[in-house]
Amino acid sequence: MTVLVTGGAGYIGSHMVLALTDAGEDVVVLDNLTTGFSWAIAPQAKLIEGDIADEALVELIIKENNVNSVVHFAGSIVVPDSVTDPLGYYLNNTVKSRALMAAVVKAGVKNFIFSSTAAVYGNPESMPVFETATPLPISPYGTSKLMTELMLRDSHFAYGLNYVALRYFNVAGADPKGRSGQSTPRATHLIKVACQTVLGQRPSMDVFGTDYETPDGTCLRDYIHVSDLIAAHMDALAHLRRGGESGIFNCGYGKGYSVLEVIAAVANAAGKPVNHKLSPRRPGDPAGIVAGADKVREILGWKPKHADLDFIVASALAWEKHLERRNATI
Ligand code: UFG
Repeated sequence: MTVLVTGGAGYIGSHMVLALTDAGEDVVVLDNLTTGFSWAIAPQAKLIEGDIADEALVELIIKENNVNSVVHFAGSIVVPDSVTDPLGYYLNNTVKSRALMAAVVKAGVKNFIFSSTAAVYGNPESMPVFETATPLPISPYGTSKLMTELMLRDSHFAYGLNYVALRYFNVAGADPKGRSGQSTPRATHLIKVACQTVLGQRPSMDVFGTDYETPDGTCLRDYIHVSDLIAAHMDALAHLRRGGESGIFNCGYGKGYSVLEVIAAVANAAGKPVNHKLSPRRPGDPAGIVAGADKVREILGWKPKHADLDFIVASALAWEKHLERRNATI
């Protein structure tokens, strides 16, 4: 029985492939390598280069590899890009997910894990935000993922496709064994940008918005270590395999840090200041978002191990140094 991982060459997907192969699972990765890297895929996994919307290909992969579960990461992930290119985001995240699901349903696979996002909540009315809150995304990115969640809900009832949608909060950090990390060029995510800045790869960085209604005026986010996030996927897979109910689960620790607190943590880890300037707000950003994360613990049995901003930042910085050495030798 094989697990098909879409987007397995990307940041989060490659960590999933490592966890699955570490657990002795057979894995096939489907990735078009537009933002992912084949070197990021654990050597025990098989890579098929192709598009998730190629239904014939997906059906063939499922049949040839005896796939019984799909974990779907492939998609576009940059909130501000979705504001300037909404149709591109609806294509990659919604339309292509629909095609993938059609092939999965046709091939008779029953277990589907989906990489969703806290961006479906938009600006929540109260914090922490629980899964029962009405989703009101404020970016096309959030809407594009919410539409896929809805397709999964309806496909569950119509075709018996069992699913878990995990709403990620702010994922950061790298594999503690140093085998993978966030490698995308032109990164926009805060912790990676701050690590690159403190290492001198960027002259300075922006703090987007200092007039939010938060304690220090900068945005609050719930940062979760990528290995803990992947542990939730492994728990979700076990849950579906034992016939657990389909559903949606927040993945975060339930604690928010401001942009300035994150920058201070990076400075602390590096032992030097991070050059930054205070800049206007970035479009599409909610002021604050922190997970109500009881459900994932209670139902999936999730037990996070790295709920510590300093640990997250230290592992992200170690990975950035690794990439720096690697690029210097290419
Ligand atoms: N930020 C800066 N400067 C930067 C980069 C980011 O100030 O150079 C700020 C942003 O404005 C935001 C915060 O840092 O306030 C976090 O921004 P990221 O770009 O790191 O992440 P987002 O919160 O925009 O989005 C991420 C994921 C989404 C997920 C969301 C959930 O990309 O998939 O977290 O909160 F939905």
